[in-house]
Amino acid sequence: MTNSFRTLDDVDMKGKRVLVRVDLNVPMDGDKVTDATRLERIASTITEISDKGGKVILLAHFGRPKGRDDKNSLKPVAAALADVIKKPVAFADDCVGDVAAKAVGAMKDGDILCLENTRFHSAEEKNDPAFVAELAKLGDIWVNDAFSAAHRAHASTEGLGHKLPAYAGRTMQAELDALGKALDAPTKPVIAIVGGAKVSSKIDLLENLVTKVDALVIGGGMANTFLHAQGVKVGKSLCEKDLAATALRIIDKAEASGCAIILPVDAIVAFHFAANTPSHAYGLDAIPDEGMILDVGPQSIERINAAIDDAATLVWNGPVGAFEMTPFDRGTVAGAKYAAARTKAKKLISVAGGGDTVAALNHAGVADDFSYISTAGGAFLEWMEGKPLPGVEVLKK
Ligand code: 3PG
Ligand code: MG
Repeated sequence: MTNSFRTLDDVDMKGKRVLVRVDLNVPMDGDKVTDATRLERIASTITEISDKGGKVILLAHFGRPKGRDDKNSLKPVAAALADVIKKPVAFADDCVGDVAAKAVGAMKDGDILCLENTRFHSAEEKNDPAFVAELAKLGDIWVNDAFSAAHRAHASTEGLGHKLPAYAGRTMQAELDALGKALDAPTKPVIAIVGGAKVSSKIDLLENLVTKVDALVIGGGMANTFLHAQGVKVGKSLCEKDLAATALRIIDKAEASGCAIILPVDAIVAFHFAANTPSHAYGLDAIPDEGMILDVGPQSIERINAAIDDAATLVWNGPVGAFEMTPFDRGTVAGAKYAAARTKAKKLISVAGGGDTVAALNHAGVADDFSYISTAGGAFLEWMEGKPLPGVEVLKK
């Protein structure tokens, strides 16, 4: 798949001003980065361009500011990045104009400079051609290494690709390669596990997946909507009753496409939404009226594991229970550990992504054992929905 993109192998970077779009949208507590995974992922691209004598000019957004706002400055993130890559990272207070031009002009080959939050200019999100032209003045080529922002058609994520010679960075390349192997040209059979609270946020995703995968496990709060649609009494569980018809349509579409839908066959039920509140496993015909389904039950875990056994490729998005609260993390942890063990035994290619999913796999202690974990949230979902991502499309040769 990646051979349809230009990569860093296709360009001599020596002496060039390389505008590199990265995703520096990392979780912070005050001035401290609390999860540096995204910084670690982009390290190889930055180091390679620098080592090859390119001038690395980093472009990124942080948060969703409305105009300039010190709370959303990239300055502390640039400092954290320097720690991760073990090289100095200079910083400029603006991503365009005199400040940026001066900082870029002062660079020597191999230097690394981070420009201030692109979203301090509203023209960034509008993909305004004049703003794109301002950014383009600062560079000779554009490298996109931000898959996780590729669902945005912004000036720095997409517009620049039309103005300057465009290349995929190493993280982007790895991501496209891994995702391509998972859904576009996978080793079959393919199973998807989709969880999370709501069907409403994942209708497009489910509709696309049932046409692509051989089996689809549905867990989490969204499974309750499917169970309700099939006549199961789900008590006080989270359930989008108005989406019953949608759930049935997805089941029908799956059947027509030869995709097996695997729903829970039992459930862990509690009477309060709280960690360590008393809970028991119930059959689906016996969910108490006052009860809340907070996790899949033991028989469901066995079914999920059996389905993982049958698969050669797994795509996972969303926890199958309320994993932030013990003991309702059990189903998610069990499935994650099982998939990790199959991956280690070389029986499974496992790809996971989406905000909560990475947290859940980290919680299960298996994130390193999956074949690939995407740090993308919204972009991963849109990819699973089968939508073209503007920041990827613009890289195609
Ligand atoms: C992310 O954190 O998911 C990406 O950086 C995109 O951020 P956005 O949703 O604010 O565009
Ligand atoms: Mg987001």
